[in-house]
Formats: sequence, structure tokens, C-alpha cells
Amino acid sequence: MPARKAISVGLDIGSSKVAVCVVSQNADAVDILAVGRAKTTGVRKGVIVDVEETVSSITAALDEACKLSDFEIGSAVVGIGGSHLTSETSRGVIAVSKVDGEITEADVSKVIEAAKAVPNQPNREVLHVIPKTFIVDGQEGIINPVGMSGIRLEVDTNIISGSLSAIKNLARATDQVGLAISEMVFSPLATAKVILSKQQQEIGVILIDIGAGTTSYAVFEEGDLLHSGVLPIGSDHITNDIAIGLRTNINLAEIIKIKYGYATPEKINEKEEIDLAKLDKTEEGTTNVKYVAEIIEARLNEIFMLIRDDLRAINRDGMLPAGVVLTGGGAKLEGIQDLVKDILRLPSQIGKPQISLSGLVDNVADPVYATSCGLAIWGLVSGGQTVRRTPGTEIGGIVDKLKNTFKHFLP
Ligand SMILES: Nc1ncnc2c1ncn2[C@@H]1O[C@H](COP(=O)(O)OP(=O)(O)OP(=O)(O)O)[C@@H](O)[C@H]1O
Ligand SMILES: [Mg+2]
Repeated sequence: MPARKAISVGLDIGSSKVAVCVVSQNADAVDILAVGRAKTTGVRKGVIVDVEETVSSITAALDEACKLSDFEIGSAVVGIGGSHLTSETSRGVIAVSKVDGEITEADVSKVIEAAKAVPNQPNREVLHVIPKTFIVDGQEGIINPVGMSGIRLEVDTNIISGSLSAIKNLARATDQVGLAISEMVFSPLATAKVILSKQQQEIGVILIDIGAGTTSYAVFEEGDLLHSGVLPIGSDHITNDIAIGLRTNINLAEIIKIKYGYATPEKINEKEEIDLAKLDKTEEGTTNVKYVAEIIEARLNEIFMLIRDDLRAINRDGMLPAGVVLTGGGAKLEGIQDLVKDILRLPSQIGKPQISLSGLVDNVADPVYATSCGLAIWGLVSGGQTVRRTPGTEIGGIVDKLKNTFKHFLP
């Protein structure tokens, strides 16, 4: 009997849907074995607000994925989002342990651990400590110090932390489903694995994921994560704005956004009208397509200008040669590429898989699956960790699973 291939499962608990993706590694491609999706009302702005609701959505998405594959899913790499997640830089310093001064992998782990010791805020938990560069005896810019000689080892890191209660609720929901968390990953880091090429990350790029309740972004340069952030505004806000602006119900506003929505009103003919009764029998009259586009543009302007301010704060405003890569359901809005190009003054494109894929490739080309697929691939890179089923997992159990991040960022 042939050996069973290692499979990896990604679980993306978004504000509008839960998505599951199951992958395995082939010789020359990542094989997408199964996907599943279910609506959720238990998550708001990326954070679980109703555990029971979320549990039933996760179960439904897993059931759908299991129908397509013949394995049982016992553990998953779980994504985390929400504006409680923060990114900050921190430096760690240690004395090299070996007498002859040769730097070992243990020293690298120790210095990364030291960088993690930022002033402890109550109710916060460090999710990732991402090394940027190392410094050996004052010499800067070292990518991998293992095997070098030195007395003093320093590291500059990017630390991503989140609210302890949000993390615990995520653990609680997966636990109730009977699913163990093999790793918890800040979602944009996983999404980047699918839709950003190594080259883009090398020369400088920003990934922007416009979800239902949040917009998250991650800036990469020289192959490293430079900066990231999460805004508590997503594409559902556009739907709400349309409902208020047109005085229609939310369902109709969503249909109008998806069918007639456009991000750049100046490209729309002023005379174009939508017959509302055709979309919803309870409505009457018409509405103007250009007016809808103006509503959409106003909200997207707000989102992209907040991101521009943040890029300015890190001196990268208009300065990322590989430009903007858009993903998430909100990126499917017509004309969004032109708008983002104007506001951020950067080339822009809609994210497409940048790695070789086989199997259910078409599903993954949809931005809605990019995060779950990235999370599953993250698990492949971490290497099939043995995952214990630990009912009632407490936070200590989760933290252990977080320490692998640097594997993904060291050469
Ligand atoms: N064709 C489309 N045009 C415009 N918007 C769309 C389209 N398709 C989906 N959307 C919007 O995308 C959003 C859902 O995107 P996505 O699935 O990425 O969000 P999520 O992952 O559930 O949320 P979050 O990441 O914020 O937690 C919804 O607001 C939906 O209205
Ligand atoms: Mg999302």
C-alpha cells in the first residue's frame, strides 16, 4: 500500500463565511483536494461574537470539504483576523552560548524569544515573532547567522500580537467542533503564500485583503514582512452605505453592489438607471448607477486613504515597486484596481495564485478562498506536525503552536 501523503487543512473564519481548504504536496505542485464554505453570522469585524453560531458554520464548511475527500479532518491551521491585531518592531539581544563563538540554531531561537519579551500588556498575546535581520557583534544586515562567529547576537523582529480573549474564543470554537489547532496564523501572512510571488515580496509589495468586515494589509520588502495592519472596515460597509443612500433593504443593496457596483463613478454614464422592481418585487422606481458608484467610491476612498497614511508613516507611500495586490471578496468590485492605483500611486492587480497548483484550482482562483488555501499551504511548510487532540485547550496549549513562525521567514 502506498504511503499516505501528508495533508494539510486551512480554516479561515471570516466575517461573512467560513472557508476550508485541504491540500497535499505533489512533486511539483500543491494539490487542492477539497474546499468547503458556509455562511456565518457569528463573526463581526473578524472577531467571534457568537461561539455557537461560529461552531455550526465551521461544522458545515468541514462537512462540505469532507464530502469531497475521504479523510477525516482532525486538525487545521487556523487564520486570525480583526483590528485587535497589531504589528510592532522589537529587538532581541543575547550573548552567544558556545565558548568558541559559533552561532547555533539554539542561539537563533533564544534571540527571537528575547525579542518577544516586549513589555507585557495584559490580555494581549504574541502570535508571531518574525525575524527581519540579525546583527552579529554590531555587523548589521545578516540574513542567517547560524555557523557565523560572534559574541553578541541581536535580531530585529516584527511582532504581531492580538487580544487574548479573541484568541481564546477562536480556540473555544474549534475545540467545540473537535478540531485541534495545529497553528494559529495572522491571515494575511498565509494569504501571501498563495498570491504573492517571491519576487514581488523581494522588491516591495502591499497585499490588501478586502473582506466583509475588515480590510487587512501586509507590506513585504526584501522577502520579509515589513508592516501590517487591520482596519475594522470592509465591503459590508459599502453594502450598508448603499442601503442608507438608496433607502433600500440590505439584501437589495448587496445585489446592487455586486451586479451594478463600480468603484470609479467618472467612468459611468450619468443616464444609466437600475430598475429596482426587477431586482426586488417589494421595491419600486429606479436608481442611478453613477450615484451608487459615488457611494462606493467614498467608502473605498476612506479605506485606501487610511492605508496610504500608514504607508506614509513607514516611508513607503508610493514607494513599493511591485505595487498593490488586491484580494478578498471586496476586491471583486469592478473598477477597484483603477481607484487604488490613483489613491496609493502604485501599480495594482487582482491577486492570482503565484504557485503551481493542481486539483480544484478554479476554486482557489476565487479571492474568497485565497486565505484558507494559504493557511493550508502554511501547514505544509511547517511540516506535518503531530497534532494531539486536546479537549479544553487553554491558552498555554495554543502558545506552543505559535513558535514556529520563524521557519517561514528564514532562508
Ligand atoms: N462580485 C462582488 N463585488 C463586490 N463585492 C463582493 C463581490 N463578491 C463578494 N463581495 C463582497 O465581499 C465580502 C466578502 O468577502 P470575504 O469572503 O473575503 O470576507 P470574509 O473573509 O468573510 O470577511 P473578513 O475577512 O473581513 O473577516 C462581502 O462584503 C461581499 O459583499
Ligand atoms: Mg477574510
